[in-house]
Amino acid sequence: MRKFPVQISPSILSCDFGRLSEEAQRIEHSGADAIHIDVMDGHFVPNLTLGPRAVEAIRRSTSLFLDVHLMMYNPFDYVEMFVQAGADSLSFHFEATEDVEDTLAFIRKCGKKAGLAFRPETSFSMIPKYLYLSDMVLLMTVSPGFGGQEFMSDVLEKIRLTREYCDRHGIREGGIVSQPGMHSDALAPFTIQVDGGINEETGKACIQVGANMLVSGHYLFSQISLAEGIKTLRNCS
Ligand code: DX5
Ligand code: ZN
Repeated sequence: MRKFPVQISPSILSCDFGRLSEEAQRIEHSGADAIHIDVMDGHFVPNLTLGPRAVEAIRRSTSLFLDVHLMMYNPFDYVEMFVQAGADSLSFHFEATEDVEDTLAFIRKCGKKAGLAFRPETSFSMIPKYLYLSDMVLLMTVSPGFGGQEFMSDVLEKIRLTREYCDRHGIREGGIVSQPGMHSDALAPFTIQVDGGINEETGKACIQVGANMLVSGHYLFSQISLAEGIKTLRNCS
């Protein structure tokens, strides 16, 4: 089986919210590729978390890539706020807006990576057309809203179908379609991020079917060494 480089994005939701800047630095020094920041609005999901001010504070403490996951309605209206706060990528939910294409385009126009997130129950058939318009898809492997939930293995098939579609249609990094004659390694693989209940075992299952970016909260922050946990996840396949 082909091996993808795997990126690890620890979820700050499992950190001590009273020490966000120290936690962000700890994540950076532990060798993560990004920090996953969950934004919840109390409507799209039954929970409230962090907003742009917190993203701004985290931005001041680290130069690590800030991977912001918006679990909120009307994400378009908040794009500029999160961009100004220092987000590097913004992922919003397919199920949360009727303006999916405009929102993806606007995030890119702001110079940031655009991600589209899908709840576990949303079917694969909704995904393909957006692969050409986004930098990443985020496939939720739990119902969004809370950390520490159990991984839903039904989603593995959707991950597999998404990677298969990318392979079959030559979709690479940033939704770019590789052209005949182009060296297949000229562009990195398209980013398929998985989020929810990821540990050594479930992470391995996701990587084996094509995921190349793992978000993990509960598992990583319950390890004695965050750095070891990140290393284990990165090499778990
Ligand atoms: C859940 C969030 C996740 C969460 C993952 O709605 O989107 O990012 O923090 O945490 P674990 O790894 O604990 O499931
Ligand atoms: Zn998340």
